[in-house]
Amino acid sequence: MIRLQRLILFALLNAISAYCNLTPDLEEYSKTSSQSLLWAPYRANCYFGLTPRYVHKEPFVLGAMWFNSINAQGLANVRHFVEQGDKLDKYGWVWYDPRIGGKETITDSENNLQLNFTFVKSHSGENWAVQVEGDVIDRSKKAAESIVIYMKQNGKEDSSCFLEQDLNHARTHNTLSFKGFSNELKGYTVSFANENSEFYKSSIPPLTHDTNPSIPSIFSMNVPDDQLWKAKDIFQSILKDSVQAHIEKNPKLSAESIPSALTIRNIHNFPPGNVQYIQQTFSGHFKFEIIFNKDRSKDQIEEHSIDHLIGLAETMVQQKFDRKFNIPGTSKFKEFAQETFSNLLGGLSYFHGTHLVDRETSFDDENFEKVELKNSKEEGPFELFSMVPSRAFFPRGFYWDEGFHLLQLLDYDSDLAFEVLHSWFDLIDSDGWIPREVILGDEARSKVPVEFRVQNPNIANPPTLLLAFSEMLSRAKTIQEEMLESHMHGNVHHEEPKSSFEGNILSSHPELLLSYAQDIYPKLLKHFEWFRNSQKGMLEEYLEVPSINSGAHEGEAYRWIGRTVTHCLPSGMDDYPRAIIPDSAELHVDALTWVGVMTRSMKQIASVLDLEEDLKRFTEIEQNIVENLVTLHWDDEQKLFCDITFNDDATDDEDLREFVCHEGYLSLLPFAVKLIPHDDVDRLQHILNSMSNEETLLTPFGLRSLSKQDEFYDTAEVYWRGPIWLNLNYLCLDALQYYFSDSPLKSEEAQHAELFKQASKLYRQLRQNIITNTYSVWKKDGYVYEQYNHKNGNGSGVQHFTGWTALVVNMIGRLPEDL
Ligand SMILES: *[C@@H]1O[C@H](CO)[C@@H](O)[C@H](O)[C@H]1NC(C)=O
Ligand SMILES: *[C@@H]1O[C@H](CO)[C@@H](O)[C@H](O)[C@H]1NC(C)=O
Repeated sequence: MIRLQRLILFALLNAISAYCNLTPDLEEYSKTSSQSLLWAPYRANCYFGLTPRYVHKEPFVLGAMWFNSINAQGLANVRHFVEQGDKLDKYGWVWYDPRIGGKETITDSENNLQLNFTFVKSHSGENWAVQVEGDVIDRSKKAAESIVIYMKQNGKEDSSCFLEQDLNHARTHNTLSFKGFSNELKGYTVSFANENSEFYKSSIPPLTHDTNPSIPSIFSMNVPDDQLWKAKDIFQSILKDSVQAHIEKNPKLSAESIPSALTIRNIHNFPPGNVQYIQQTFSGHFKFEIIFNKDRSKDQIEEHSIDHLIGLAETMVQQKFDRKFNIPGTSKFKEFAQETFSNLLGGLSYFHGTHLVDRETSFDDENFEKVELKNSKEEGPFELFSMVPSRAFFPRGFYWDEGFHLLQLLDYDSDLAFEVLHSWFDLIDSDGWIPREVILGDEARSKVPVEFRVQNPNIANPPTLLLAFSEMLSRAKTIQEEMLESHMHGNVHHEEPKSSFEGNILSSHPELLLSYAQDIYPKLLKHFEWFRNSQKGMLEEYLEVPSINSGAHEGEAYRWIGRTVTHCLPSGMDDYPRAIIPDSAELHVDALTWVGVMTRSMKQIASVLDLEEDLKRFTEIEQNIVENLVTLHWDDEQKLFCDITFNDDATDDEDLREFVCHEGYLSLLPFAVKLIPHDDVDRLQHILNSMSNEETLLTPFGLRSLSKQDEFYDTAEVYWRGPIWLNLNYLCLDALQYYFSDSPLKSEEAQHAELFKQASKLYRQLRQNIITNTYSVWKKDGYVYEQYNHKNGNGSGVQHFTGWTALVVNMIGRLPEDL
């Protein structure tokens, strides 16, 4: 019956779509969406760096650097890649949307510079402009702010970017213009325009005719495509050679001539090549633009229209944000939320290159020592479109983080979330594996400690992408049913505008998402099987335990491969305490929980695709997992979900299973991902007690990762042993809402009045605590953090961690204040 209804529903929808001729196919959708996503600052590892998306043979690549060349120290303070060690007072996007544009502000006291980059695009998305505006912070100090823009046209020599006008012309006219060509991008022009900038003025003549800091300097050379990421090293080394030559000629350089000495020149007489460096030096306010126009494009950007475009873009981004998040202009959280969200998007990157995989090494199941991955081979090239957890510290793809990024992004631009998800799923290999960290190419690799560069296909990670995909699908289904409903009742929908800028094409054409689900299904199935096979636990070891023997379902028990005595990196919660003596027979409650999440998603996809057999199978597996969670992992004494391990010394058969209980995120996980049945009220009550208890998990800043009462609380690295993480806090809030506001349990509210009261109090308090604390830390420091201190709420770990910490924006703008 249900199947028939669904078939009719599909047929009807298809008929409606065909009749209205409205349905774009997946390819067409992808083209439209691609246009507005072609250009953006996708080199998020740079303070400002551009490259086009999905153009990898002959992309145009741009980057910005700066330093204060007023003294020799300047050369050591060249800024390029985002580094926490640069200790900038602040940096980041104040408003940003990759489809539209954005503004990044940077305050760098050490270089005495305040600098802004504003990026905008033409309507077609083919052309773009960057406005670079800056000023000296402390005018009582003499300054020579050198801004260096470099750009490269990758590809063979005949398609390189080249200088159109000669240097003299550039000097006399104070304009710079470069013509380029690439087979993928075709012909284009990049021009620079200056507006009344205060160029550096020296009281003495430059050291040589080609090192005049009062005018732009251009330096060109050939750099192999795969070496461009060393743009800063190249620049510094050429400058050093030049300074050396100045000193040889003139051993006593006066202080006044330093800015000239630190101006780049072609000391080695390199022929002009595919890379251009443009250095401009200012002593006060400056404002210049870089404009990229495709030849013969219909909406080329003109210099005089840039301010107008910027105004337009800012309004569009503002309005889009307001439509998607419900935060009144009067809210003190508004600026915090918009900035934090912009910085999540500011981490959106496009990567292309090979990665390193060791497919030979297996893991130590005897001593659980750390295993070196020595047999690495390059695989690929691959590409990845992904957000990054932190531009400074983790500028690459992280499987476990990405699902959380998507949960956040889904509410804002579901098409974009889909693009990212799609890109990740494309990486599933023929065995069904996706690496835990995706580190493509030398530029990405350069930021990873050597021991973490190589990936291994025995290693898993929490499959959060499936959490996001299942959310996406359930929304698509809801929308589809609403559309059908309103069509049958002849209602006309009045909703937000649909456009590729809005990012809601898929949500207004759910059939596209469903057709994608169909395409991707075989791959996801492989991924699912890979996970279950590779992380399978030895349930058979426990068959002498009477309660397991009688109650457990065969097959559904898991453990993380690759855990060591001190760490379990694959679990994502690296130092969360596990059994003190590792054992290959131990079973991890989070591993089983995550397989449950995967199964639920697979079930949902199978249901949407009407795959009856598979649907039956997944429903059964899910049910078995839900039951095994309790049969295997619930400790009825401590009232917690716990890892278990095998105890050879037990005198009683029941004690052959030893619970390894550590109250915290691990014990909450089955609840956080909604795998506890609604009618399991007793267990919900215990979990609620655990979360509401200030002596264990609840703090004025959010939920601790590990209970204050745990013997490992606040010990060793104190990474997942106390500090507050927003990803798990978000899941807990969402789950509270699910169980106590949306679920069938709600109908029994009167019967469980106390429970509901407690849940509602906890929800309100927890949400408020997290928001208030992250906000006040941001207010104080200007940044959001990887985690928050469990004792005083201070930001800790990586600074400017704008990945899953951005979920706070959802808490502010999407989660209701009360249940
Ligand atoms: C940079 O942008 C910020 C925020 O919009 C603004 O307050 C500041 O004045 C700008 N700085 C310059 C040098 O234009
Ligand atoms: C952390 O918080 C405490 C109390 O609010 C404060 O006194 C201290 O200076 C903070 N520490 C850091 C490193 O920010």
